[in-house]
Amino acid sequence: MYAIVTGPLAWLAFLIFFIGIAVRAVLYIRGLDWKLDRVTYSVNTLFGVKGALRSIVFWIIPFGSRSWRAKPFFTILVFLFHLGLLITPVFLLGHNLLLKERWGFNLWAISENTADLLTILVMISAAFLALRRIALPEVRILTTAYDYLLLLIAVAPFITGFLAHRQTADYQFWLMLHIISGEVWLIAIPFTKLSHMVLFFLTRAQIGMDFGIKRGGMKGKGLAW
Ligand code: HEM
Ligand code: HEM
Repeated sequence: MYAIVTGPLAWLAFLIFFIGIAVRAVLYIRGLDWKLDRVTYSVNTLFGVKGALRSIVFWIIPFGSRSWRAKPFFTILVFLFHLGLLITPVFLLGHNLLLKERWGFNLWAISENTADLLTILVMISAAFLALRRIALPEVRILTTAYDYLLLLIAVAPFITGFLAHRQTADYQFWLMLHIISGEVWLIAIPFTKLSHMVLFFLTRAQIGMDFGIKRGGMKGKGLAW
């Protein structure tokens, strides 16, 4: 069983993840209405690219955008959550040992204490993100069971990985549950709202491009509206 979940099933999960996010990106770009703004975009490509990069950069810096500054507590939570969510699985020693053993390569690894700290941060911030959805009426009204399910899928490999790593009661059980929840995590990304992992960059680029061109680019060309 261990050989299957860390072998063919892991391959399948990674394939679905990488192909899935590539397909989501291509579908998004093909779905844009390029004809609508053909003239604007072709005349002002440089302003567009600058606007796109600007928008992405300000949104991936904590408090970089006005929306982030408006909700400081939420901003800290979302950034701590994502910091652990993205760094831990990639640079975890345990994962890199497996990578080396199975696929013959590995990345740089963070210390076990750092991994534990990031894992705990993910679990605590996920708990607060869930509480926020319950406690704030303006968020509660927009929340469905699907949002809690996504939070659960996102945090499950951290809970199970943490428990397996502690080597408490039933190591085999938690490790198996960990690997399966990790594979669910990878597969869920292209098919659910978790696809914002790629769509975030594309939507911000698109909005930034529009602002860059229409607010800045057309000025001086007598075309501003
Ligand atoms: C695809 C299959 C995966 C496999 C085969 C795998 C395997 C492992 C192994 C062997 C460990 C070490 C357990 C120990 O120390 O004894 C571990 C720990 C861990 N894994 Fe995974 N994992 C997978 C996916 C994921 C994913 C997708 C995530 C996160 C999104 C993740 C997050 C973690 C965390 C947070 C820990 C424990 C960190 C700590 O030390 O506190 N894993 N994993
Ligand atoms: C580089 C990649 C990513 C970026 C830039 C990103 C960005 C964001 C942003 C901006 C939000 C807040 C949206 C709001 O205002 O409500 C958010 C929420 C969220 N993200 Fe990500 N994300 C990334 C990757 C991921 C990944 C890999 C996962 C999990 C698999 C994930 C899980 C979540 C969840 C569960 C929420 C909702 C939190 C809540 O319940 O309020 N994100 N993300």
